[in-house]
Amino acid sequence: MKIAVLPGDGIGTEIVAEAIKVLRAMDLGLEMESAMVGGAAYEAYGHPLPDATLRLAKEADAVLFGAVGDWKYDKLERALRPEQAILGLRKNLGLFANLRPAICYEQLVDASSLKPELVAGLDILIIRELTGDIYFGQPRGRRTAVDGHFPGSEEAFDTMRYSRPEIERIAHVAFQAARKRNKRVTSVDKANVLETFQLWKDVVTEVSAQYPDVALDHMYVDNAAMQLVKAPKKFDVVVTGNMFGDILSDEASMLTGSIGMLPSASLSASRQGLYEPSHGSAPDIAGQGIANPLATILSAAMMLRFSLNQEAQAARIEQAVKAVLAQGLRTADIHSLGTTRVSTREMGDAVVRSLK
Ligand code: IPM
Ligand code: MG
Repeated sequence: MKIAVLPGDGIGTEIVAEAIKVLRAMDLGLEMESAMVGGAAYEAYGHPLPDATLRLAKEADAVLFGAVGDWKYDKLERALRPEQAILGLRKNLGLFANLRPAICYEQLVDASSLKPELVAGLDILIIRELTGDIYFGQPRGRRTAVDGHFPGSEEAFDTMRYSRPEIERIAHVAFQAARKRNKRVTSVDKANVLETFQLWKDVVTEVSAQYPDVALDHMYVDNAAMQLVKAPKKFDVVVTGNMFGDILSDEASMLTGSIGMLPSASLSASRQGLYEPSHGSAPDIAGQGIANPLATILSAAMMLRFSLNQEAQAARIEQAVKAVLAQGLRTADIHSLGTTRVSTREMGDAVVRSLK
């Protein structure tokens, strides 16, 4: 099995190093090859997603990704921004299904900004469509070059679109995931205003007929944003489009205590997938050794589960993470009174120790 390792920018290199450490300690005979991506690749090769990096990602069984982005690239033309690397990987690898589980670990109940009783025992799964929507429509504005000429700032737009097959396939992913859980799907849309999301709602409803054992309800995105902090445990599987999923998954991360805890899997129609923490490159804390590597380590567990068919090994990592939290070890983002503050590296080492 071959893993493409793409650490990227900011804290990406620090957190991916810890996930690699954990994978190596498990002795699974994985072949791992690294390449540059994002701002790092732009500096070295003039492009955030160099051909060689894309080739490596395509031929690998799975991609372990860190994070990309830095404010210093804000003025670059859009096609060269670090974010285009992850968007390009998602599109080129056909990674349409993004699974973002939000689980509140018992020991982190107090790290959440919400009252403990609201989040204790929380286990929801956000499924975000990842290759359509306004993210991949037609953009036009100051940072989009048109024949090398940048239009003025009088007007800018991005088009939102979804096609029936795109909605159908993500709906199937959601219903199938719900079957293995509490058999409830909430489809989040904005059908009261947007045609794109009227189609979304209609198609999800049609697909649901094939899953009579799964309960479906629909919720407008503004209401969903409210319900997520009002009564998050009422959700089981949430399925939504690319843009709403981006926003709601960040919101959901705070239910778990810290965005530093949230892993993700981005899957294609084959078993191939890209695994990354849901958080970004956090340039403000990069290089300080204080980032939480657990989201990336938990993403590596998802990689073993979904792309490498190693459920037992995935569970082993998840158990090790729970054990480390039970020992009271915390990086800065989840640190609270009475716990032991550790660095990025110490957290990785602790997970390795508790594997054994
Ligand atoms: C995420 C990130 C990305 C997104 C950025 C870095 C392009 O916020 O994975 O949620 O918007 O999808
Ligand atoms: Mg995001």
